[in-house]
Parts: sequence; structure tokens; C-alpha cells
Amino acid sequence: MQDLLTEIAEAALANPDRGKVATYIPELAGVDPGQFGIAIATAGGEVLSAGDADVPFSIQSVSKVFALALALGRVGDQLWSRVGREPSGLSFDSVLLLERENGIPRNPFINAGALVTTDTYLSGSPPKEALGELVRFVRAAADDDSIHINEKVAQSEIATGHRNFSLAHYLASCGNLQASVDKVLGTYCHQCAVEMTCRQLAMAGRFLVDSPQMPALVSIERRRRINALMMTCGHYDGSGDFAFRVGMPGKSGVGGGILVISPGRASIAVWSPGLNRYGNSKLGTEAMETFARRTGWSVFGVSRDGGQGDL
Ligand code: DON
Repeated sequence: MQDLLTEIAEAALANPDRGKVATYIPELAGVDPGQFGIAIATAGGEVLSAGDADVPFSIQSVSKVFALALALGRVGDQLWSRVGREPSGLSFDSVLLLERENGIPRNPFINAGALVTTDTYLSGSPPKEALGELVRFVRAAADDDSIHINEKVAQSEIATGHRNFSLAHYLASCGNLQASVDKVLGTYCHQCAVEMTCRQLAMAGRFLVDSPQMPALVSIERRRRINALMMTCGHYDGSGDFAFRVGMPGKSGVGGGILVISPGRASIAVWSPGLNRYGNSKLGTEAMETFARRTGWSVFGVSRDGGQGDL
């Protein structure tokens, strides 16, 4: 496994075709696209990594997984009266379907849906308290108290997030926000600005692995459902392609991070800041495709042609 990670990282670091770094959040525009890291936390308790796996990056939409777990913890299945569970087939920040579907976002991983999950875990408490709870959840999941929010990134997004403000106002006009637009947006942008390294993110994803040795922060049923949503909606309009290429549930972020879960086996984090046309890490996706092919890991069955299956 270590040799495979090293090989994948070396190939990615040498690849000149790196995709484009997100620029619509000014603070992210200056991140060096030459970086690549990968880390894996196995069900057996090992953590292996390669490349820039100890460099912190902005997890952005990967945070929507933790926010969903927190919102479900707050209100359980009642959440599903405010947000759907279907892929949208549109970009992460699209406003198109909101009007047609009466302010009920398609799923909790597009921006509109994540604003609803943020509003849900806010549930009347001051944003600082709610964010404290989110960070505590992530720290507990990763077993790492050094994980924090990058205030500069949060402020940079609040200052420029016109698209998200419009989504939030539309949700509010349909009666699908309880807190004020400013509170929800401020909390959402701070949540997206959580910073982690690949090693920390791989650790934080262990609660979704479905293995007795992993932290039990959510019930088994909830874990399976979060994984199902990651598979169907975790990469926006690129979700079908990610499932086709990688065959494991994953959640991406515009910071270039991807969290991938191999149920029963491992939590994997990969990061490279350059994005593909869907806004998902270009080299991260390609690396996960290689990883899946070489290990034979897939939720759709065991590879019989060279993949090693269990490592
Ligand atoms: O709301 C936004 O636009 C960002 N904070 C997060 C978007 C994102 O990460 C989409 N992922 N690929």
C-alpha cells in the first residue's frame, strides 16, 4: 500500500496537466497548483501517506459531510422534509432547480442543500456555538484537537459570495431557512473554511467506514445513507463519472480535496488544488481512479484482474 501511494503521488506531482485552481474565493486563488497529497486510514488502524499529505488545505465542500451528520443528529429524518436526496445534474452553486422545486434543494451536498443543513445545525444557537460543535465533531472524528477554521478564507468567501447569498435569500423567500440569511451564510462560510491535511481528513472520515475499530459517531444506518449520498451526489454533475471511474463514495471540495470511503476497509483523502470542469480536483480524481484499479476496491464488487482486493 505504501508503495502504491508513493507511486501515485510521484506520478501526480510530475503531471503537467493539473486543472485550474478555484479563483472565485480570492483567498484560494493563490494556492500553488503544483501540490498533491494522499493519505489512507485503514480499518486496521494504520495511517499511510505520500506527497504533500501534511500540508493544510481548505476542505470547502467536504465539510458538507460533517454538517450533514450534525444536522441529522439534531433533527433526524425530519431533515428530509427540507432537502431532497437526488442528484441535481447541475453545478454545485446552481440556482436553476430551486424555483421549480419550491425552495427544496435537491440534496444536502449542493450549496443550496448545504445552506439548509447549516441552518438545521444552527437551530437557534449563536453561530459561534454551532461552529464550535462542528469543529468538535471534526476533531473527535479525526482524534486531533489542532483542527481549526481559517478565518481569512471564511471572510474572503463572505465578502464575495453573491451566488450563495442569492441561494440563501431564495430559500428564505420559500420559508426554508429559520435563521437570518447573514447568520446562515456566515456559519456556512466558516464551516467551508475548516482546514485539514490529507492525513487529518483521512482520519476524520473514519466514522463513515463501517468497521468496529472506527469511531462510532453516527449509527450504522445513518453511515450507510451518508455514504449513499456521497456516491450519488458527492461530486455534483460529475457524480456519475466519479462512481463510474472510482466506484466508491466520495465528497469533493473546491479547495481540491476529496474524501473517499471504502466501506469496511478505509478512509482515503486526496488533495490537489487544480480542478476539472465540474469543480472537483482533477489529479485527485485521476489518482483515485488509479488507486481503485490497483487495489480492486469498489463497492460494486471485487476485481478479479490484478486488483489485490484486501490489503
Ligand atoms: O460555497 C461555495 O461555493 C464553497 N464554499 C464550497 C463549494 C465547493 O467546495 C464545491 N466543491 N467542489
